[in-house]
Amino acid sequence: MPKQIPAHIAVIMDGNGRWAKKRGLPPIAGHKKGADALKETVKACAEIGVKHLTVYAFSTENWGRPKEEVGFLMDLFMQTMEKEVEELNRNNVRLRFLGRLGQFSEKLQAKMKESMEKLQNNTGLNLNVMVNYGGRAEIVDALQELLNSPHLNVGNISESDISNHLYTAGIPDPDLLIRTANEMRISNFLLWQLAYAEIYVTPVFWPDFGKPQLLEAITDFNKRERRFGLRK
Ligand code: IPE
Ligand code: IPE
Ligand code: MG
Repeated sequence: MPKQIPAHIAVIMDGNGRWAKKRGLPPIAGHKKGADALKETVKACAEIGVKHLTVYAFSTENWGRPKEEVGFLMDLFMQTMEKEVEELNRNNVRLRFLGRLGQFSEKLQAKMKESMEKLQNNTGLNLNVMVNYGGRAEIVDALQELLNSPHLNVGNISESDISNHLYTAGIPDPDLLIRTANEMRISNFLLWQLAYAEIYVTPVFWPDFGKPQLLEAITDFNKRERRFGLRK
């Protein structure tokens, strides 16, 4: 077991399409398996005492994928909530969906709301699922809200003013960012919050990611020297 467990882990769950392609299957088969991988990672994080887990499930850009794939993902979100909320509750997980939720169907929005409310008093792992999420969209939304707030002093905006209006207000910044499937990019994820996160990229495709891979990432994190710009 690694010595130090990061308080907040963020994950870009990538490689579902490639996982499926390797097996001669359509991307949706990878997404289905990806939902199982998420379940395992959530459970592992709860077990080892991670406080916050933030996962990238659907980006503002992902709407541009083929209609059948987008439709499948929407159905998968719905089914996963129907199937997993009870188990999350038993594991004391608190759930938040963050992003521009208003673009989802009324039915899906209602289910997200119901799931979040059901788990809102839990005190274990905080699970943030980023959906219709874009880092730039989030900053735009934060500024919009900030500029509309009644006590704003426009000439005196601080970093915490912005942080406090992000979807992630009140949640500490991620310590560790994991990206699966070997891409060395951020893809519009948590642009503000990742300022000093340690980045870990693994070639493992998301559907193959589980507790052993999570522990490997945390072991690597334990070897990092975080400097935050200081001389150490
Ligand atoms: C990530 O897997 C899941 C979503 C973006 C919803 P991909 O579907 O992007 O997988 P690759 O990158 O095509 O392998
Ligand atoms: C980022 O992965 C979005 C999610 C994991 C939900 P993408 O596969 O969409 O990103 P790119 O296209 O590789 O940058
Ligand atoms: Mg991808």
